[in-house]
Amino acid sequence: MSTMKTNRFTPAQITEAAALLKAGEVVAFPTETVYGLGAIATDPKAVAKVFAAKHRPADNPLIVTVATTAMVAEYATITPAAQQLMTVFWPGPLTIILPVLPGRLPAVVTGGLSTAAFRLPASAVTRDLIAATGVPIVGPSANLSTKPSATKAEHVLHDFDGVIAGVVDAGPTPVGVESTVIDMTVTPPAILRPGKLGPADLEPIIGPVQADHHHVAAGETPKAPGMKYKHYAPAAQVVIVDAPADWPAALAWAKASGTAYGVLASPAILATVPSGVPTYALGGDIQAATHNLFAGLRWFDLHPSVSLVLAQAYPATGLGAAYMNRLDKSAGGRHFAQEQA
Ligand code: TXA
Ligand code: MG
Repeated sequence: MSTMKTNRFTPAQITEAAALLKAGEVVAFPTETVYGLGAIATDPKAVAKVFAAKHRPADNPLIVTVATTAMVAEYATITPAAQQLMTVFWPGPLTIILPVLPGRLPAVVTGGLSTAAFRLPASAVTRDLIAATGVPIVGPSANLSTKPSATKAEHVLHDFDGVIAGVVDAGPTPVGVESTVIDMTVTPPAILRPGKLGPADLEPIIGPVQADHHHVAAGETPKAPGMKYKHYAPAAQVVIVDAPADWPAALAWAKASGTAYGVLASPAILATVPSGVPTYALGGDIQAATHNLFAGLRWFDLHPSVSLVLAQAYPATGLGAAYMNRLDKSAGGRHFAQEQA
């Protein structure tokens, strides 16, 4: 049992938050994608607290969050193609994996790998916080391992109140899903995690990229260690409804199953759901759906009587690829169409 008080800071109180970080404490911070769990990246004891708080396996390395490209050069080799990505897309929701310079980052950050992931967020609050500490901070998503990422300070406190020293609250994070992760240490470069920036954005700058974020089979070694773990899962079972025309059948199937169910979908679909069924509105388009996805999954955790959630699919192109990647993981790959087979 921890007796630590979790301070809630406004963006105007960056100095106080930075002081806690410099004292070796864990402080959550906003980015344009999701909230991150911060600790000074060069302080192994502070970084160990992040793993402990998240219940994160030690072989799953952390992102190193920086305020300037110059900070990256102190810890890693910036290849010419990586430099082009930084010039075009930073600050922004792109995490770049680079070869590390030996001995500069604690092994606890990299999970013992010879590479590390670097990110320079678009959020000025994040960059101000790092500038105030003067050194990079680790920034895994600020959720308990296996749970949906946090897009609001309330989500962070739900998972970590009394466990971490503070959270900087800048309101809901605009994008709603984590950054695109691209591995620049392989040829062609590999997208390990889809995000707002996809091949259509990256390939004009660096040429062909490969997608390497397929479902990782048991026993297989994934490129991004985090990909092998269960992810984004609320307590209820999520089942994806792919085709808009399937909703009447899916609602009938859920009702016939006899389990208490809820629906996570756009207002247009929610208008067809029987009254009394708990619902969470994703918003009218893919941007709004992505922005609301994790908040919706977490909302159903606060309604523990619901044990089945029907969730709306979107076409897996552009931002939709990132949305469907997260939703598919939260559902453990379960789709309504396959329930019928
Ligand atoms: O948008 C984001 O990226 C958020 C915000 C807070 O910045 N952070 C985030 O961190 O999503 P995290 O730790 O939840 O996800 C980082 C992913 C994990 O899947 C991890 O395994 C992978 O990046 N990763 C980190 N270092 C790596 C490396 N050296 N090689 C391959 N994958 C790596
Ligand atoms: Mg995460």
